[in-house]
Amino acid sequence: MSIALCPGSFDPITLGHIDIIERSATLFDRVIVGVATNSGKFPLLEPERRLELASASLAHVPNVEVAEVPGLLVDFARSVGASAIVKGIRGSNDFDGETPMALMNAHLTGIETVFLHARPAFAHIASSLVKDVMRFGGDVSDMVTPTVHAAMEASMREKNLYLGKEQQ
Ligand code: PNS
Repeated sequence: MSIALCPGSFDPITLGHIDIIERSATLFDRVIVGVATNSGKFPLLEPERRLELASASLAHVPNVEVAEVPGLLVDFARSVGASAIVKGIRGSNDFDGETPMALMNAHLTGIETVFLHARPAFAHIASSLVKDVMRFGGDVSDMVTPTVHAAMEASMREKNLYLGKEQQ
């Protein structure tokens, strides 16, 4: 059985992530979505919330499951028997950012990373941009699921992060 690990911060999961994971699920028997910590980022949502939202967003794909990555990605990949890491690539910036991680993960354990090109319709959607647009009062409702949208709104209100026009 082929097992792929799709890791990310998923802060929050977007329609772009969902598309990459759905496509991974057609290529591998089993896909494990790993909600991990990126030490270079300060997340909006707690890890448990990110995990819940990813699980709810992917409940329609039978061979996908979602789990928290407790530490080093390659240790988790080994523990679940993953033969590949799958990441989405939206453009050259992603490629430049992902390449050192892919090489490091291969150096540590020999695990291969497979890159899938983002569909053009999703190539501009990044969690960080979605949060920024929402923070300034922009409409991001067609870039995340309604559940994710509601969770982002609640968290932004709770953390007093809104900077744009007054939210309804
Ligand atoms: O969605 P992101 O933030 O681009 O995902 C990056 C992530 C979380 C996959 C990466 O930071 C990661 O693998 N974190 C787990 C800790 C780890 O293994 N770090 C070394 C990566 S070479």
